[in-house]
Amino acid sequence: MRPTPLIPSERKTPKVGRGRATPRAVAIGEAQYETIFNRLPQPTWILDRATLRFVAANEAATAHYGYSREEFLAMSYPDLHLPEDAMGVRQRLGQYAPSRGTVAWYHRTKTEKVIRVHAVWIPVPFDRVPAILMVVETTPTALRRLVEETEEGRGRLEALSRRLVELQEAERSEIARELHDEIGQLLTGLKLLVASGERRGENGFLGLPAAERAEINSIVNELIGRLRDLSMNLRPPMLDEIGLIPTLEWYFGRYTARTHVNVTLRHSVEPARFPAAVEITAFRIIQEALTNVARHAGTDQVDVEIHGDRESLRLLIEDKGNGFNPRLMLSSHSAGIIGMQQRAHLIGGHLTLESAISAGTRIAVVLPLPVGKAGGAGYPT
Ligand SMILES: Nc1ncnc2c1ncn2[C@@H]1O[C@H](COP(=O)(O)OP(=O)(O)OP(=O)(O)O)[C@@H](O)[C@H]1O
Ligand SMILES: [Mg+2]
Repeated sequence: MRPTPLIPSERKTPKVGRGRATPRAVAIGEAQYETIFNRLPQPTWILDRATLRFVAANEAATAHYGYSREEFLAMSYPDLHLPEDAMGVRQRLGQYAPSRGTVAWYHRTKTEKVIRVHAVWIPVPFDRVPAILMVVETTPTALRRLVEETEEGRGRLEALSRRLVELQEAERSEIARELHDEIGQLLTGLKLLVASGERRGENGFLGLPAAERAEINSIVNELIGRLRDLSMNLRPPMLDEIGLIPTLEWYFGRYTARTHVNVTLRHSVEPARFPAAVEITAFRIIQEALTNVARHAGTDQVDVEIHGDRESLRLLIEDKGNGFNPRLMLSSHSAGIIGMQQRAHLIGGHLTLESAISAGTRIAVVLPLPVGKAGGAGYPT
C-alpha cells in the first residue's frame, strides 16, 4: 500500500514566480493588513520617526490605554511616559538612535495608571515617511505582579511560621511548667504520704500487704521520673540557665537510657552562650534528628558535632544506619524534617540533609548569628 502523502498534491504550496500561482500573502490587500494591525492582541502603534507623533494605533492600544484613536493621533509617544522619563525616551527613539530596539519601561494610561511594559520597535516606512512600528507587551506587568504576590505570600507565610514556632515554644514552656509545678507537686505529696506511712510502720497501710505497698511506691517514683522527663523534653529549663552544651549532655544521657542509642558529642563552642532563639533552634533540631535516629535508623550509634564562634553555630548529626531516599520523603506526611528546615530558615540559617539507603543520614545545619550578638539576646524567642 502506498503511504499517504503528508500534503495532498492538489494543496501543495504554490510556487512563486511568473506564470505560477500567486503566493497567498501577495493577495492580502491593504484593508486586510489594516484589519490584522487592528486585531493584534498587543497594543501596537506607528510613530512618525521625526516627531514621535502617533500616526496609527490599534484596538488593543485604545483598550489598554483608554484613549480613543483620535486622542492617540493628537498625541506624541512621550506623552505616554512619566514627565521625568520623556527626555530619555526621545533620545532612545530619536533619529540618531538605533532604529530598532527593545526596552522595559513605564507608561501612563488615560486614567493615570502607571503600567510596566515591554516595548519592541522596528523601522517601517509609513506613507513614505520614516516611521516606527512599536508593539507593547504588557504581560511582564502581570508576571511581575504574580512574582510580587508570590513574594508577599512567602513573606506572610514566613511570618506565620515564625509566629507558630513562637507560640509552640511558649505553649510548651507553659505545659512544662504546669506539669512540673502542679502535677509534680501532687505526685511528690503522694510519695511523701506513702513514705511517712511506711516509716510509722502502720501495719497494713492502705490495707495492703507489703509487696503491693512497695509496688505503689515504685509506681509513684516512676511517675515522678516520667513526668520530669516529659516536662524537661517539652522545654528544658536549664537551656536558659546553663546553655546549649550542658543541656545537650543532660539530654543525651536520658536519650541513651531510653533508646539504647549511644551519642558521641564533639564540640568547640566559643563564646559559650548564644542568643536564646539560636540555642532553642539548635536544641530542637538535634532533638528531632536524634528521635529520627532512634525511630528509623536501626543503629545504636549517632555522632553529633557542634561548632560555634562569633559568626555562626554549626551542627552536624550523623548516623551510619538504614538511611532513606530524601526525595520520597517529600511526598510523605511527616513533619519532622520539614520542621527542622523551617526552624533553621526562620532565624536565617539553613539545613542540608544527605541520606541514602544503607549509607546512613547526615544533617548539617548552619545558624548564623546576628552581627555582634554572640552571647547576647539577639532574636526574639
Ligand atoms: N536518621 C534516619 N534514618 C533513616 N530514615 C530516616 C532518618 N530520619 C528520617 N528518616 C526517614 O524520613 C522520614 C521523614 O522523617 P520525619 O522526621 O520528617 O518524619 P517522621 O519521623 O516519620 O514523623 P514525625 O513527623 O513524627 O517526625 C521518616 O519517616 C523516615 O522514613
Ligand atoms: Mg521525625
